[in-house]
Amino acid sequence: MNIRLSNGKVIPMEMHKVRIVQKTSLPPIARRLTAMEEAGYNTFLLRTRDIFLDMLTDSGTNAMSDNQLAAMMVADDAYAGCESFYKLADAVKEVLGFGYTIPVHQGRAAEHLLAKVFVKPGDVVIMNYHFTTTKAHFVLAGATVLELCTDEVLNTQSTNLFKGNMDLKKVEDAIRKYGAAKVPFIRMEATTNLVGGQPFSLQNLRDVKKLASSYNIPLVFDGSLISENAYFIKQREKGYESKSIQEILQEMMSQVDILYLSGRKSTSVRGGLMATNSKKYYDEILAWLPVYEGFATYGGMSTKEIEAMAVGLREMTDTNVAAASPEFIQYFVNRLVENGVPVVTPAGGLACHVDAKRFVPHLPQAEYPAGALAAAIYIASGVRSMERGTISNDRDLDGNEVYADLELARLAIPRRVYTMSHIEYVVDRLTWLYQHRDLIKGLKFVEEPKVLRFFFGRLRALDNWSANLAQAFEKDFGPDF
Ligand code: F0G
Repeated sequence: MNIRLSNGKVIPMEMHKVRIVQKTSLPPIARRLTAMEEAGYNTFLLRTRDIFLDMLTDSGTNAMSDNQLAAMMVADDAYAGCESFYKLADAVKEVLGFGYTIPVHQGRAAEHLLAKVFVKPGDVVIMNYHFTTTKAHFVLAGATVLELCTDEVLNTQSTNLFKGNMDLKKVEDAIRKYGAAKVPFIRMEATTNLVGGQPFSLQNLRDVKKLASSYNIPLVFDGSLISENAYFIKQREKGYESKSIQEILQEMMSQVDILYLSGRKSTSVRGGLMATNSKKYYDEILAWLPVYEGFATYGGMSTKEIEAMAVGLREMTDTNVAAASPEFIQYFVNRLVENGVPVVTPAGGLACHVDAKRFVPHLPQAEYPAGALAAAIYIASGVRSMERGTISNDRDLDGNEVYADLELARLAIPRRVYTMSHIEYVVDRLTWLYQHRDLIKGLKFVEEPKVLRFFFGRLRALDNWSANLAQAFEKDFGPDF
């Protein structure tokens, strides 16, 4: 909840008490430099023991509630007919309005099943924007992915409150060009991850559904960050200010043929699900579930996580829960803007996104500015961020780089995990880094996997820049910080 102080300043207030904590420590600058070298300048390859604040992702790292943890204790481990599943199915029906629920082990498992059931070679999958695993599955199934969001998405200094909106004209042109038979579904992603966690409006969702229906194309909804998008609609869309998160969720879902989500984000667990009201789609997907995931009542998830997901689904309808990360991100973004550090605006969900094209404009995309920035942020602060730029795109079939539209270093804010002093620390170190940005140089791959290279790829720092950066840091802060 945003609270106004007597001096007029608005701060995000934690609407929870911290009763269990996990220790962390700040490795000194010399260790951070060595750890980054050992990790091949890829923040995915760092170990927790070398990380002070882990802002890699909110995926599976949100703080769970007391009631979620308590629910885990009563899980029913039956292979088939497990009661925990029926609690999840009841929560899905109550919160999202779907009669059929399919648990899967995480979001990409749902994408795999979607690709298996619906996508044929030569198909064209239309979406507002891709997510890495989403694109990988549909491309592996032989399809082309078309990202038909509004052009505004590429403007990192925008005031447009719904940059995740689909461009209806582009969608209609694409359907006409390729023919509806080649479009297995249109996919809308809530709080669109790779463009800075940007939401779409309910009006846009309704318009997309209307257009899709007129061509008999189903609408698939990636709801990994569904409660955050509902919160943004409540905050930003006219007519929804006084609606509850649950009412907004239900209105969103009334437009959707198949919902899938990574439960690792909005529902604060580790798992995923698919849901629909169509018996036909349910049967088609279910047929493959035991092959790739597990029986219908666990689908690759631990039954403990299924119990916690049922609770998490209901809890995310609490405005204070849905708002927890977005309000912290808003504060974080505002503080960086105040200090002149280039970030994506408006503030979105999931993370604060630093704009590497403006932070290190001297680096060409071929030298991976967002990757270099993520490495530099770690060296200067012990904070782990994630590269969301060209490294996150694989090369094309001819081996050419596919330069990303946006070069971002993403600092995720897992829900209810970090405090105001953590945020102030990161703001300070990012501001210091921005003042020393000329020291940051590029990266070059030394080991480059073909698929999803950002996970395991290893790089090196050009011109020994990381050592120079560490030296400048030590000069200002001493060897212990
Ligand atoms: N869709 C979206 C929008 C996502 O953000 C993610 C994961 C997935 C699908 C895949 O789900 O990880 O459960 O298999 N996003 C994580 C992230 C990994 O860090 O943003 P998964």
